[in-house]
Amino acid sequence: MSKVLYIKASPMRQRSNSIAIADAFVEAYKKANPKDEIKLLDLFSDKLPDFDYVAASGKYNVMHNKPHSDEEKQAWDRVVAVIEEFKSADKYVIATPMWNFSIPYRLKQYIDIIVQPGLTFTVDSAGNYQGLVTDKRVFVAYARGGEYPAGTPGEAFDLQKKYIELILGFMGLTDVRFVIVEPSLMKGREVAEQKRSAAIDKAVKMAADF
Ligand SMILES: Cc1cc2nc3c(=O)[nH]c(=O)nc-3n(C[C@H](O)[C@H](O)[C@H](O)COP(=O)(O)O)c2cc1C
Repeated sequence: MSKVLYIKASPMRQRSNSIAIADAFVEAYKKANPKDEIKLLDLFSDKLPDFDYVAASGKYNVMHNKPHSDEEKQAWDRVVAVIEEFKSADKYVIATPMWNFSIPYRLKQYIDIIVQPGLTFTVDSAGNYQGLVTDKRVFVAYARGGEYPAGTPGEAFDLQKKYIELILGFMGLTDVRFVIVEPSLMKGREVAEQKRSAAIDKAVKMAADF
């Protein structure tokens, strides 16, 4: 039995394109793998710890066995608990919008929590980074209001997919499958609905082999 962590990074609930695609993917996956566990993390509803002064100083002091306050230890323990939950999954599904050419701040906050040395990545003796979350698959549903096709000038503005793939790869997650729905706004409702429906069909097919 596998555990799938389903991370929603849009606040738009039933109006969200990325969630509609990821939901369809997860439903198809559940049909194909009825015994697997799906754990939902809704980044705009669930509470994440702040990565503030206490958490950051807790990180440095606890990791380096330096004197630290109870408050720092508790703040760092809350961060580690989120990382442990992340690492306990065997597979990941992420639904994310493009916001200002990148990702929503709640997903960035989650990334700032889980990407930690010694827990999700390390540095080898030659000074090279090595991911510690390996041999796990990821499916990402990306939604964008505009269009950023490869080979066009728009491609350079796409810091959403580029960043997600970079940071996942940094942690060792290199098997990243994806579906993009674009443009969800720029060419009107009819085009958006066609694109969304095509993206859902594609996602459902991809779930069979995930
Ligand atoms: C705060 C905000 C910023 C956005 N920035 C961009 C952007 O930089 N480029 C773009 O193409 N669309 C942008 N959009 C539009 C969203 O990417 C688009 O509505 C997408 O469908 C959102 O994903 P969702 O439907 O899953 O919520 C933005 C939307 C919001 C709310």
